[in-house]
Amino acid sequence: MPDKPQGDSFVTIFDDTYDRPDCRAYFRMMDALGYRNQHHAVAAFRAGLAALVEARGLAKPRLLDFASSYGVVTLLMRHEITLAEVFARYRAPAFDDASPQEVIARDRAWLAALPRRAPSLHVTALDVMPNAVAYGRAVGLFDAGHAEDLEAGAPSDELAAALGRVDMIVECGSVAQLMPRALDRVLAACGARKPWVMTSPIRGNERAAAAEVLARHGLVQEVLPIPPFIHRRFEGPEEQARAIENARAAGHVTEGLESAGHFHAQVLLARPAGEGGDPRDWPLALSVPPLP
Ligand SMILES: C[S@@+](CC[C@H](N)C(=O)[O-])C[C@H]1O[C@@H](n2cnc3c(N)ncnc32)[C@H](O)[C@@H]1O
Repeated sequence: MPDKPQGDSFVTIFDDTYDRPDCRAYFRMMDALGYRNQHHAVAAFRAGLAALVEARGLAKPRLLDFASSYGVVTLLMRHEITLAEVFARYRAPAFDDASPQEVIARDRAWLAALPRRAPSLHVTALDVMPNAVAYGRAVGLFDAGHAEDLEAGAPSDELAAALGRVDMIVECGSVAQLMPRALDRVLAACGARKPWVMTSPIRGNERAAAAEVLARHGLVQEVLPIPPFIHRRFEGPEEQARAIENARAAGHVTEGLESAGHFHAQVLLARPAGEGGDPRDWPLALSVPPLP
């Protein structure tokens, strides 16, 4: 695994697990590093989705899983399963020697039988990694998937048409904050009624450039009123020191949080002003229990 910050990120990037033919290495990497972001963020995304569905009277909301990777956000949005159960599944030795085709077949059957949450969703995935998107399509997580880099260029006609119908964009992993050009191109393709955008950046990764892009497209961004939550464990003291420095530079108090050994994240919501009420009135699942 590379152990270096890339681009303007201070976070170690584990991109050698991002483009395998199946999700095993990715989930095992997340498990080993104690990832918790999606556990907390998706609970908040679901509360936001419920408010959006009510505000717009949507029967089957259309989601964009932005920087989807193998679809963990979609999995937790769509199915009755916890992140801890996902990690436990891929720890099983039966996954050690299985071929990618076997893993995909197993996962497809598993997901077909896994109870679904309401409301029913239509999910379009976007990621630069073709194998990750193909896996999500093959197992039935994504209704549509696009391996494109909107940081580098305009969306294909097919992706632009899909974006034109999206109601909500969800993203874990800070890409929306770190890639304002991609965010701008996504929102430009989204049509007149802009989607809500819910993201869970690491504290210190929230960027003014992203807020400006959102505002230019008529979206007002706020931090949801939930306590900061664990993103993942630090790999070591150097990563921790960088994270503390960056969180403090963004105005966060790090004592008891980053200082105690984990990246922390928060949920940002961007939406047209006034639509969907006050998040303090939502069942925001403040009580999502921490994972061990
Ligand atoms: C930290 S991972 C997060 C993945 C997933 N959302 C999750 O919660 O596990 C970041 C993802 O961003 C993707 N990515 C990097 N650059 C991108 C770009 N320009 N457009 C879309 N996705 C990108 C990577 O391929 C990777 O899958």
